[in-house]
This record gives sequence, C-alpha cells and structure tokens, in this order.
Amino acid sequence: MKKPQSLFECSNCGAQSSKWAGQCVECGKWGTIAQGDVGNASHAAAGSTSKPGKTQSFADLAAQGQAPKLPTGYGPLDRLLSGGLVSGSVTLLGGEPGIGKSTLLAQVALTLANTGAPVVYVTGEESPSQVALRLKRLSPALPASLSFLDETDASTIAATIESAKPALLIVDSVQTMRHADVPGEPGNPTQIKASAAVVTSAAKKSGTPVFLVGQVTKDGDLAGPRLLEHLVDTVVMMEGDGNQAFRLLRVLKHRFGATDDVTLFAMKESGLEEVLDPSAALLADRPKNVPGTVVSCLMEGSRPLLVEIQALVTPAGYGTPLRRVSGVDLNRVALLLAVMGRRSGVGFGDQDAFVNTIGGMEAKDASVDLAVCLALASAKTDKPLAHDLVAWGEVGLAGELRPVSRLDARLKEASRLGFKTALVPTQKDAFKTPDGMRVIQCATLKEAIKSVTPNAP
Ligand code: TYD
Ligand code: MG
Repeated sequence: MKKPQSLFECSNCGAQSSKWAGQCVECGKWGTIAQGDVGNASHAAAGSTSKPGKTQSFADLAAQGQAPKLPTGYGPLDRLLSGGLVSGSVTLLGGEPGIGKSTLLAQVALTLANTGAPVVYVTGEESPSQVALRLKRLSPALPASLSFLDETDASTIAATIESAKPALLIVDSVQTMRHADVPGEPGNPTQIKASAAVVTSAAKKSGTPVFLVGQVTKDGDLAGPRLLEHLVDTVVMMEGDGNQAFRLLRVLKHRFGATDDVTLFAMKESGLEEVLDPSAALLADRPKNVPGTVVSCLMEGSRPLLVEIQALVTPAGYGTPLRRVSGVDLNRVALLLAVMGRRSGVGFGDQDAFVNTIGGMEAKDASVDLAVCLALASAKTDKPLAHDLVAWGEVGLAGELRPVSRLDARLKEASRLGFKTALVPTQKDAFKTPDGMRVIQCATLKEAIKSVTPNAP
C-alpha cells in the first residue's frame, strides 16, 4: 500500500506544501507552517468500511414545495432577497470597513425584534456598549427581545444558536471569530473557514437564519468573504465610496432567489434610507452649462441607472501627464485617451486628465466608454454638452462604437428622467424610441464627438 503523504499547512494563509519550511512562500510569515493530517485522513478513507447512504427521489422533495421565506420586516432587504430569509440559511454581508454593514444589520435587527421575535447580535468587532450606542441612535426605545452575545468563540456561538434558536442571529464580524481547535490568529483564512463552518452547521441544524458580516479590505479581499462564498447560501455586498452618501447593496449569490438585483441606500443621520428613485437621486445636483459633464446609463443587474460622468483637463506640468480617476477604471481611461488621440483627433499628450463619477457610483463596465470620451472632449474644448443628452456605448481600439445590451431599458429610463437626446452606437437590431426622444446612432467615436460638439476637429 502507498505510504500516506504528509502535508504541511500555513496557519496564516492556509497554503499547503509537501515540505516543511521556516517561512511560508505564499504569505511570507515565519514559523506558521505545521504538519496537517490530510495524509492520514486519506489513508483512513482508503480502508474505510462506511455504510451506503440512502438515496431519495427529487420528485418527492420537489413536491414538498419551496422553503418558506421569513420576512425580517425590513422592506429593502426583504425585497432584495426575494421575500426574506430562509430558515437555517446563512447570509454573508461583505463590504469595506466603515461602509455601513453594522448599521444595516442593526436596522434589520431592530425591525425584526420590534415584532417581538428574539434576535441575537454577536458582538466581536465592537464592544456591546458601542453597538448599543448605534442601536440607540437608530431607535431611542430598544425592544426587549433584542439581545447581545459578547463572544468570539465559534463553538460557543454555535451552541447558543442550537439552544436558544433565535429568529435571527447576527455575527459581526467573521474576522473576529475564533475556533479553538484550529491554529492561528482570528481573521486568518483557516480560522475564518473553521469558525464559519461550525456556525453554519448550527444554523442548518436549528433552522435559525444567520447573518455573517465580513470585512473586505481596500486592496482586494484579503482573508475576506470570497473565502466563504461556497459555504454560505447568500452573499450580499455593500459598495460605495465611504465619503459619499450613496451605498449600493448587491446580491452576488442567492440560493433562494434572483441574484441580479441591487438596492440603493443613502446614509443619513438616522441610518440607511432606501433611495426609491436612484437615477433621479444621482442626478439631483447636476450643474448646468458646465463643460466636461455628461450622463450615461449603467445596468446594475436588471436595473438601468443614470449616472453623471465628469472630466477635467488641464495643461500638464513637466514629465508624464497625470491621469486620475474615481469610480471608473484607470486603465480603461488611459486606453480611451489613446484612442481619442489617434482616432478622433482630440489629443491629450500634454494634458492632465481627471475623470470621475458622481455619487461614488462604480461605472467600470465598457458601456460608459462613450460618455467618458464625450466628457473629456467637452472638457478639452471647454464647450458644455447639451443638458438633456445621454450617451452610452463601448469604444474599440479602432475608434469604432460597439452596441451594449438592453438598449430599450436604457432609453426608457433616460426618457423617464426627461432626457431628449440619446447618443448610441449604430444598432443592428430594432428598438423602440420613447416618445419625445431623439436617438442618434453613430458608427465611430469621431462621428459621435462631432455630432455633439460642433467645434471638435
Ligand atoms: P458602520 O455601520 O459601523 O460601518 P461598517 O460596519 O461597515 O464598518 O458605519 C458606517 C458609517 O456610517 C460610520 O462612519 C458612521 C455612519 N453612520 C451614519 O452616518 N448614520 C447613522 O445613523 C449611523 C448608525 C452611522
Ligand atoms: Mg461594523
């Protein structure tokens, strides 16, 4: 029989290797590598004499119907999750620190507890008194059925779920939980996975829906929610610029409903407030008659969202000209500047260029290309574009415009908000022009710039 292979694992990042080393090659930490028992486990499995499992018919299971949804009573979340939480389901709420995850869950907890249902808030990241302060800020009278558990030990949290069976349990956050049987500091991948696994299994056993809060760092998702995506039933992400008022809540994965939905919130003094007309809110403070701004339409899931793109162009000092962006992709803007220089005669070689979106919205897909180019062209020529113009379309390296999806939905949204002219790539398929709107189709970027800025080269 083959000799069982021993495996070494880093307790910090979870990297596995066949040899021991003083320093982990993946994360660079010293003294974190220890022998795992994977080799022994597979050896045992090879000679195991397990009993066969019992198979069941899918038809019988389907006849029992879908798992019922338990509404939390907090409308925006219930709608986003197609009706509410499912008994025993685990939902991961991810987002950068300070974005508003704890605020959202405090609001959900308060709403549900106000109906008399027992809700437990597991505090790990903040002290219970800090959480209490936030709760008081959101609701001066706190319901008696809302309690806290000041605990970071995952097994204790799991045992509490199984014995108390609350209507909802919130763990804030997964990074602070620890599992006694696993080496390493709380927050490292092995700890996060092991802790989340025991809490998840307790949720499934007791039928208690659980929320896990997961921090995502600015530079990617170190030790963060990505790690848990396969383990949990639902992943909800909160996005937005911490300095801006708007927050976007997005469903990335949902085992019990649709995933392409988003909800826009505004962070107010009294907590998060759902924005019922996102496009109107995002365009609320648009300046008039200013060069370098134009409105584009993004698709956030199935929902069209109008967003203002702004550009500023100034003569560069010595050296390489600056390119600074916020809300759009820097590499994409560099590419568009090059295409404009070569294909449409608007050069930026000696100009600093700045591009940003208003309201902290992320506009990183290619459908905003045309609007970015128009804003830059308008900034360069110092001529404002028409206030009632919207534009979208992908720009290719040859300077051609490429159609983007869902033209009808985008046109409808633009028309609803009073836009009169839409500048779009030449369409092959038929579409419906909304009443009172003019749709200009262009095949190239050069043509598009010329059609809206008459003095462009
Ligand atoms: P928080 O929910 O603690 O963020 P996270 O849990 O994602 O780290 O809070 C985010 C910010 O929101 C914080 O800077 C304070 C602010 N805030 C408000 O503006 N209004 C409110 O009612 C509350 C509770 C917080
Ligand atoms: Mg928090």
